[in-house]
Amino acid sequence: MTYASETRRRRTFAIISHPDAGKTTLTEKLLLFSGAIQIAGSVKARKASRHATSDWMEIEKQRGISVASSVMQMSYRDHVVNLLDTPGHKDFSEDTYRVLTAVDSALMVIDAANGVEAQTRRLIEVCRQRDTPIITFVNKMDREVREPLDILDEIERELGMPCVPMTWPVGQGKLFGGIINLRTEAMTVFESGSERRPQDFDTVPLNDADSLAKRFGHEWTTAIESMELATGASPAWDHAAFLAGKQTPVFFGSGVNNFGVMEVLDALVDLAPAPQKRTSTTVVNRQPVVKEMQPEDTAFSGVVFKVQANMDANHRDRIAFVRMASGKYTPGMKLKVMRTAKELRPTSVVTFMSQRREAVEEAYAGDIVGFTTHGGVQLGDTITDGSINLQYTGLPFFAPEMFMTVVLRNPLRTKQLQQGLAQLGEEGAIQVFKPEMGGNMLLGAVGQLQFEVVQHRLKGEYDADIRLEGCQYTGARWITADTPKELQEFINAYPMRMARDAADTLAYLCTSPYDVRLAQERFPKIHFHPLREHA
Ligand code: G4P
Repeated sequence: MTYASETRRRRTFAIISHPDAGKTTLTEKLLLFSGAIQIAGSVKARKASRHATSDWMEIEKQRGISVASSVMQMSYRDHVVNLLDTPGHKDFSEDTYRVLTAVDSALMVIDAANGVEAQTRRLIEVCRQRDTPIITFVNKMDREVREPLDILDEIERELGMPCVPMTWPVGQGKLFGGIINLRTEAMTVFESGSERRPQDFDTVPLNDADSLAKRFGHEWTTAIESMELATGASPAWDHAAFLAGKQTPVFFGSGVNNFGVMEVLDALVDLAPAPQKRTSTTVVNRQPVVKEMQPEDTAFSGVVFKVQANMDANHRDRIAFVRMASGKYTPGMKLKVMRTAKELRPTSVVTFMSQRREAVEEAYAGDIVGFTTHGGVQLGDTITDGSINLQYTGLPFFAPEMFMTVVLRNPLRTKQLQQGLAQLGEEGAIQVFKPEMGGNMLLGAVGQLQFEVVQHRLKGEYDADIRLEGCQYTGARWITADTPKELQEFINAYPMRMARDAADTLAYLCTSPYDVRLAQERFPKIHFHPLREHA
């Protein structure tokens, strides 16, 4: 197969939801029905075994939340489907945002009783910013839930784009009769239980309306009425509009009962986009020039969107997750980190196809490759085979919303603390700021739990016992200016407020939102950035 045909058959998507909406259940069913796993329960079991092998995951276990996001690959209808899981807890939202930069589409899972919940809202915003196409799955129809029209209305409002129902539920809860597939014009009849395979459900064509009406009575009449209202109010299905992030197809079902899941898997293959071109910059005659890489371009290129410490606390290895943007990966090939121009020498490489029996020896654009390294790789790094010169941009770092000062209990462990903070900063577990005027290091986070994880890991992995103390800062802005002179004047005016992050980028620490406004008024030529994109 050619590079083009290989990349065209790839689908790389993230699954997003509010905790408890049924993300893990749906993930597991997608893997099960594509044949990637044989026995239900293994995704949950794997989560549990991950807890068992790593000490620092203790925090995750205690709180029953997922700190790490992971990658799963399946093969379905001659397509390679890469599923990227996202941590559901809001305190790890930064990690999720970065995962969203590595996908071509998103699958949004909504609990039909709760509608669009807080955590989903922020994820939607990120998808919207990037015009990421979103497929919507309304889950738990076997429960007493909200009216489908009501749910659709809410999704439309929250997404700011029209919903196009692809399936429509007949009844709900105890009277859930099944779903009408609007494309095939047939009704799939619901039965509860988790043993059934999708093909085992009874399917009745809609032109057999009399028998369906007799069988489902009031539920049927109501479903047809509301379905007509919904389809009348929504635009016709427009694939191009979906790909442009301007409408979302909506599916109803019940993950735990294996119901409505196959429709989602088919939609991923039939509707979701293959890898797209990616914008990068390259420097020509000292000037940045935009360069577009096509997925079928033969040079290997990709971006590190996630760095994760190895689960084994005795080793300092880290896995750099690279989303391939172009080319082909083959074992043993030479790779270069563009930021440092150094060769990447991984101790091992995983391509997330371990579920399959045969060893897979290659990966293409859209795939995720995990490189285990001893360092030298940071979040946002561009990796190539050395035959091209470019840098991908767009991996976001958000200005922290809370700060703590690090106080080391045993001053003899300073070196270990520095090493730990540098590595955890590079991983993106937390943002580390070093005040320009000296003094204790500052930790900046988006969520409180990040502090706890870092404190726990510093002790467990680096034997650096720290105390975290509150400090006056409530925010930070990365600063730039058009000229070095303007920047220096600003630095001179606020020397105590200057700090550098893990990437050595200068930031202004603030004590309130007014603080930034005042500084901006005094120095109108300084640019204050709430978001830093790795460049
Ligand atoms: P998450 O990853 O989004 O956090 O959700 P997860 O899949 O763990 O599901 C959360 C709970 O919702 C689980 O129940 C799960 O069984 C249940 N669930 C998922 N899909 C459906 C569905 O279609 N219908 C109904 N009725 N429930 C569903 P739990 O009691 O927390 O866990 P468990 O003991 O069942 O595993």
